[in-house]
Amino acid sequence: MTQFENNNFGDVLLNRHSVRHFDKDVKIPREELREMIKETITAPSACNLQAWQFIVVDTDEGKKKLHEFYMPFNNPQIDTSSAIIQIFGNTLAFKKYRALWDHMYEEKRISKEELDKVYNTFLPLYEHADKTMLTADAMVDSSLAAMQLMLVARAHGYETNAMAGYDAKKAASVMGLDPEQYVPVMGIAIGKPDASAEELKSVRYPVDDVLKFE
Ligand SMILES: Cc1cc2nc3c(=O)[nH]c(=O)nc-3n(C[C@H](O)[C@H](O)[C@H](O)COP(=O)(O)O)c2cc1C
Repeated sequence: MTQFENNNFGDVLLNRHSVRHFDKDVKIPREELREMIKETITAPSACNLQAWQFIVVDTDEGKKKLHEFYMPFNNPQIDTSSAIIQIFGNTLAFKKYRALWDHMYEEKRISKEELDKVYNTFLPLYEHADKTMLTADAMVDSSLAAMQLMLVARAHGYETNAMAGYDAKKAASVMGLDPEQYVPVMGIAIGKPDASAEELKSVRYPVDDVLKFE
């Protein structure tokens, strides 16, 4: 298991704040970015469909593509971060679902009855679902992964900023994905903070404004 740089869960969780100005000189090795995505995809997903897709943008050419669809107020994060991880929801994730469950059965991790149950209950749900449901499902799965990624990043000693301020209609095609299949969820800028920059500290509504017990 990964030896996290920051293993203090309280600190990882409660001291996360959006960082919008990063130290431009910090490069995160691709192997570490890959490791962070590997840790990110331990996130839960509906029916374990894992309807997410990540594009790690860590080159100048890649960042140029992001400028084609991001709103200008996100330029500082794009231009100074070590990488932007663009997250898309895969509305057709169910198409590779059989292979996943067949593999679990072959590895004797599930019984034939459990395999049949998946084939006869979960899979038809997705195969007959409309685009709205598939999109909502992919957005939820991918959003859970996005949150997990932001915490994983802090455990690795980095800071992040989630960004959805972009032209959602352009995002998939600019990034070389089929816009019919992939819905943009958000980008996560990641890096080490620029120590000289002032960052806005957000506040929350009082908990009782948003909580009720039933
Ligand atoms: C889905 C989503 C989209 C966001 N889009 C942007 C964005 O485009 N640009 C930006 O600067 N911040 C963006 N944010 C960051 C929020 O403004 C920030 O999380 C919020 O103000 C709370 O502050 P905190 O992250 O410091 O706790 C986004 C956050 C989320 C969750």
